Amino acid sequence: MKNYNRRKFIKTTAFSAAAFTAASSITNCDKTISVPDSKGKYMGDFSAPKLDTVRVAFIGVGARGSGHLRSIAKLDGVEVVAISDLYEDNVLRSSKVAHDLGKGGKHNKIAQYWGEDDKWKLMLKEVKPDAVFVSTNWNNHAPMAIHSMENGAHVFVEVPIAVTIEDMWKIVNTSEETQKHCMMMENVNYGRDELMYLNMCRKGVIGELLHGEAAYIHELRFQMKQEDRGTGSWRTHHYANGKGNLYPTHGLGPVAQYMNLGRKEDTFKSIISYSSPALGRKLYAKKNYSNDHKWNQLDYQNGDMNTSIIKTSKGRTVMVQWDETSPRPYTRHNLVQGTKGALAGFPTRVALEEGFGELAKDHHSWIQGDKLEELYEKYDHPLYKRLNQKTKNSGHGGMDGIMRYRIIECLTNGLPLDQNVYEGCFWSAVTPLSGKSISEEGMPQKFPDFTRGKWSKTKPLEIIT
Ligand SMILES: NC(=O)c1ccc[n+]([C@@H]2O[C@H](COP(=O)([O-])OP(=O)(O)OC[C@H]3O[C@@H](n4cnc5c(N)ncnc54)[C@H](O)[C@@H]3O)[C@@H](O)[C@H]2O)c1
Repeated sequence: MKNYNRRKFIKTTAFSAAAFTAASSITNCDKTISVPDSKGKYMGDFSAPKLDTVRVAFIGVGARGSGHLRSIAKLDGVEVVAISDLYEDNVLRSSKVAHDLGKGGKHNKIAQYWGEDDKWKLMLKEVKPDAVFVSTNWNNHAPMAIHSMENGAHVFVEVPIAVTIEDMWKIVNTSEETQKHCMMMENVNYGRDELMYLNMCRKGVIGELLHGEAAYIHELRFQMKQEDRGTGSWRTHHYANGKGNLYPTHGLGPVAQYMNLGRKEDTFKSIISYSSPALGRKLYAKKNYSNDHKWNQLDYQNGDMNTSIIKTSKGRTVMVQWDETSPRPYTRHNLVQGTKGALAGFPTRVALEEGFGELAKDHHSWIQGDKLEELYEKYDHPLYKRLNQKTKNSGHGGMDGIMRYRIIECLTNGLPLDQNVYEGCFWSAVTPLSGKSISEEGMPQKFPDFTRGKWSKTKPLEIIT
């Protein structure tokens, strides 16, 4: 194993934290960017040449990236070739995991990079991986994705794909120019219910789609306990300095694919947004930390609960909510209303105008609880049926494993990915656009058309078997 440990580790890490505080404010002050010219080719239905073995590298192996590494290292057709993180212990731990999982010796030459902020650049240059998995703090997603593609790799980026519209355009243009995939890894699209609802929508079970409801309502104040490294150490600054819906994609991704937004049928048009007062984080910091603690020095500005409404080209509506602060049970809403019924989540419920056999005579009662078994039997997505046994212990109820398996399956078979670069940008654009709407007292904001009009020629996501 190569070792690229460098001296300035502590200095650099301290610098990173300071730099982050300054940079985090870009979440809320995006400019409207005019459509930049593209020198490349449209990536809507793009498939890359097959790879017999995917030489995979990881940037960021903290909480999330180490999970990606653990399941990807188990897959056939993969060789883990490099790992980069700020911290030596993270790199060494993940290298050992990969090494042990590659029993036959398939992950024996893992190049390791830690220390300075930009070590990952050296990794890309020296190792030239086929695919890079980026699971770092949000502000690093765009530069890491862009540089990975420029160095000849397909790139798989954690959510959100980027935090500014300007960076989203750069990602689109780089992907088009380099002809490399850039997929935002929206794992929720691979949940059992989400896959089943997609299947039901495509089969016309609830008729024409009218309206969706999506959310990420997840009380995560406890992350503030991660004061010096880990999620809370950087996300807390976003909660203070950001504006609008800071984490829209888990709820929105599946609903957007039910509606085929950005693919042939319809697309994102505009958004309006409002936030509640920002109280919860301040109260939490006061209650749990001394007056001079850094969490009590922040001026928490971003409203605890954000509510946005997206209007689509066809005139459909999608409500998107976000709250990672207030005490209440987890929900992503996951609701889609059609002319013949509704599919909903948290808890899973289905209402059909025509009823469902003995279980429901019409739409006035929900099919839920034990009654769902028959529905799953009839409408479970073929992908779920094929992969569930293999991936069920992979995290988030199995959705993570299905997503990772599909990524490698698509790369080794030369197939289009299930989520294209434009979808990652549309879904992530809710953050800067909701922030701008709030700054302008709820004024509607137009979505940039990242496809430059080509969405109407992009195939809908088919039901993968
Ligand atoms: N899809 C999901 O379900 C899900 C769940 C959790 C987190 N996430 C996303 O995953 C990403 C990572 O979150 P996390 O909870 O793992 O955070 P984390 O802080 O635990 O991990 C981030 C890692 O990135 C590393 N890093 C930061 N800057 C770097 C640099 N310049 N070079 C190399 N490494 C660098 C850090 O050292 C750290 O180990 C975030 O974008 C988050 O939104 C997604």
